[in-house]
Amino acid sequence: MDLTNKKLILERKHKKVYESNDCIIKSFSKEHPKSDVFNEALNQARIEETGLNVPKVLAVEEMDGGWAIIMLKKNGKTLKEIMESDKENIRKYMDMFVDIQLDIHSKSSPLLNRMNLKFSRQINELKELSATIRYELLTRLDGMKKHTKVCHGDFNPSNVLIGEDGEISIIDWSHATQGNAAADAANTYLLFALEDKELADMYMDIYCKKSDTARQYVQRWLSIVAAQRLSKNVESEKELLMQYIDVVDYL
Ligand SMILES: Nc1ncnc2c1ncn2[C@@H]1O[C@H](COP(=O)(O)OP(=O)(O)OP(=O)(O)O)[C@@H](O)[C@H]1O
Ligand SMILES: [Mg+2]
Repeated sequence: MDLTNKKLILERKHKKVYESNDCIIKSFSKEHPKSDVFNEALNQARIEETGLNVPKVLAVEEMDGGWAIIMLKKNGKTLKEIMESDKENIRKYMDMFVDIQLDIHSKSSPLLNRMNLKFSRQINELKELSATIRYELLTRLDGMKKHTKVCHGDFNPSNVLIGEDGEISIIDWSHATQGNAAADAANTYLLFALEDKELADMYMDIYCKKSDTARQYVQRWLSIVAAQRLSKNVESEKELLMQYIDVVDYL
C-alpha cells in the first residue's frame, strides 16, 4: 500500500477521507468508537466475500489518534455526480441504480448483523418518541416478514461509483445488515425524499416494478426506517422524518 501524497477529498464532523495513488483512507476522529470502525471494515470484508464489486479492505490502523480504514481506490465518478450532470437521462440512471440494489439483495451473508435486531435497538433508544409510539413501531417491526437478504442500509447514488470503462463499485458499507429488502428500499426512498420528492417517487416506481413488490409493502416499512434514521439526530431531517413516522396512526 502506498500512502505517499495522500490528499484530503472529503471532511465531515467525525471523519476525513483521503486518497493516494491507489488507496482510499477513511480516517475517523478519536471520539468515534473503535468498534464502529472495525464493524464497518468487517462488513465490507463480508461483502467482498459475496462476490459484489466493493473496494478491497487492506488494513485498519491507528491514525492521528483515531482509527482508519484503508482500502483500494476505485476509479470513476459517483452515480450522484453523473445523475446531476446529465439530468436528461435520469430515468436510465435510476433504472441502473435499482438493478444494482436488486443485485445486492440477491446475495446472502449469514454472519452479517441482523437488521431487525439493529432496528429494534435503535428504536428502543429513541427517547424523543413516547413509549407508546416506540411500542407501536416495535410491534410493527416484529410483524414484518423475516428475511436474510444483504441490505446496504445507506443505498443512495453517492455510494455507487461508475468507472470510465463502466465498472460498477458499491462503497460505504457501515450500515449493512441482512434482512428484508423492502426495508432497504424504504430507506433509499427516504434518502431521496429528504432531498427531492420527485426523484423519490421515480425510485419507488422503478423499484416496485422491477422487484414485483407492492408499493404498500415498501411503505409499511417507512415509519420504521424513519424512526431508525431519527436516531442519527440530524436536526434538519427531523420534521420530515416525524411526518413519515406518522404518529397519529397510533394515538
Ligand atoms: N474505495 C473508494 N474508491 C474511490 N473513491 C472512494 C472510495 N471510498 C470512498 N470514496 C469517495 O469518498 C466519498 C465518501 O466515502 P464514503 O461514502 O465511504 O463515506 P461517507 O459517505 O462519508 O460515509 P457515510 O455515508 O457513512 O457518512 C465517496 O462518495 C467517494 O467519492
Ligand atoms: Mg457515502
